[in-house]
Amino acid sequence: MAVEIVTVKSANSRPIWFIGKNALDQAGLPQDATLWAKANDFNGEAGRVLILPAKEGAIAGALFGTGGEEKSGQSQLLAGKLARALPEGDWHIEGKPEDAALTTLAFLMGGYSFTRYRKADGKTIRLALPEGVDAKETQAVADAVTLARDLINTPASDMGPDALEQAARDLAGKYKAEISTIEGDALLAQNLPMIHAVGRAGSIAPRLIDMRWGNDNDPKITLVGKGVCFDTGGLDIKPASGMLIMKKDMGGAANVLGLALMIMAAQLPVRLRVLIPAVENSISGNAFRPGDILQSRKGPTVEIGNTDAEGRLVLADALALADEEEPELLVDMATLTGAARVALGPDLPPFYTHDDDLAQAIAQKADETADPLWRMPLWQPYAQKLSSRVADINNVTTDGFAGSVTAALFLSRFVEKAGAHVHFDIFGWTPVEKPASPVGGEAQAIRALNQLLKERFPAR
Ligand code: BES
Ligand code: MN
Ligand code: ZN
Repeated sequence: MAVEIVTVKSANSRPIWFIGKNALDQAGLPQDATLWAKANDFNGEAGRVLILPAKEGAIAGALFGTGGEEKSGQSQLLAGKLARALPEGDWHIEGKPEDAALTTLAFLMGGYSFTRYRKADGKTIRLALPEGVDAKETQAVADAVTLARDLINTPASDMGPDALEQAARDLAGKYKAEISTIEGDALLAQNLPMIHAVGRAGSIAPRLIDMRWGNDNDPKITLVGKGVCFDTGGLDIKPASGMLIMKKDMGGAANVLGLALMIMAAQLPVRLRVLIPAVENSISGNAFRPGDILQSRKGPTVEIGNTDAEGRLVLADALALADEEEPELLVDMATLTGAARVALGPDLPPFYTHDDDLAQAIAQKADETADPLWRMPLWQPYAQKLSSRVADINNVTTDGFAGSVTAALFLSRFVEKAGAHVHFDIFGWTPVEKPASPVGGEAQAIRALNQLLKERFPAR
């Protein structure tokens, strides 16, 4: 299955009518279509698709139910269902949908399938570009979502730290970004000890990927993404059920690469830096252990209460490095805690920042782009739960309460100079099919952030 946007509507393009709940009679449909809809009990129910017949077995068009008033979260992306439901061929939207750009994007997102290991069905849907939609911009967003999903869906056997580096190099090459890596024991020489400690048991060397793009005089925006290519839990091994989808533990990295794609495609006037600690949290004789005490880049020593809390360790060193050049905005994304899912479920990632204005702006953009996000507190009184008897800080708390909050507090300990820091504890995965999302790897927070950056740093 594939969805293509075409700028010139083909002569045999068929119309899709968007119909609100109980709005069939006011929709101005041809009489045949209204009668067919009534015969099929179609009355604009959210997400329902009804194909309209023509003579001699042909298709005249389609009706699409947009449902009632309530518009929130994924309901704005409902049109994603059409990508799967419509038969092959040329289609256009009749009239003007409420948000034409989001509707077009939903089509593209809903048409995604992961085809690396088996053929997709051969269906192609060509959608005529609705009026007022910027094809290039919408396509770039869809490409970013596809990149993030593809990288997450690719299993660790083909998406180790080396392959993740290659994906970053491919992206850098496309937009003429500079890219370098610090690999293996060089991590020790370059003072990134916790990235080394977490990744050294993996059969593919751990590394820090460092990509830069844009003009040095422009505002510095730095994105840090957790690139744990597989998370066994380490010596504190995960049970089978918890390990099953841990190929997605590089979801933060996949998502920041997607966001970088959008920033570079739109040529936003920023100096972009992307840092990805790429490691495997593996088990071997040289694995880091519970009780070990690690020296961090920034200075504090870290007692390992649990080797499965590895993401915050590799992020801490990457964040400390990012912080050194005092970026105006420092964003990190990570599939950091199961606790974030307990709090908010898979589809509503929490984010954390001290900056109230930034938080408000992010929440607003999340709403506008149907990329749901929810602010949670950096509740300082819980910081002392991370205290250690023998080191400056422990990587876990003992009571396990507020796990996503304490993980965020841990990270914030390693940032002090950045103009603003925001941390996203994403799930990076869609466990139950949604209109614009098949089950599997998912882009989260990057469409909202793209919107925010686009408005804050308008292209020249
Ligand atoms: N990658 C996991 C977090 C995770 C688990 C995200 C399941 C999404 C789904 C992370 O490295 C981890 O294992 N975190 C532990 C932390 C704990 C040991 C304090 C967790 O959440 O259980
Ligand atoms: Mn873990
Ligand atoms: Zn992890």
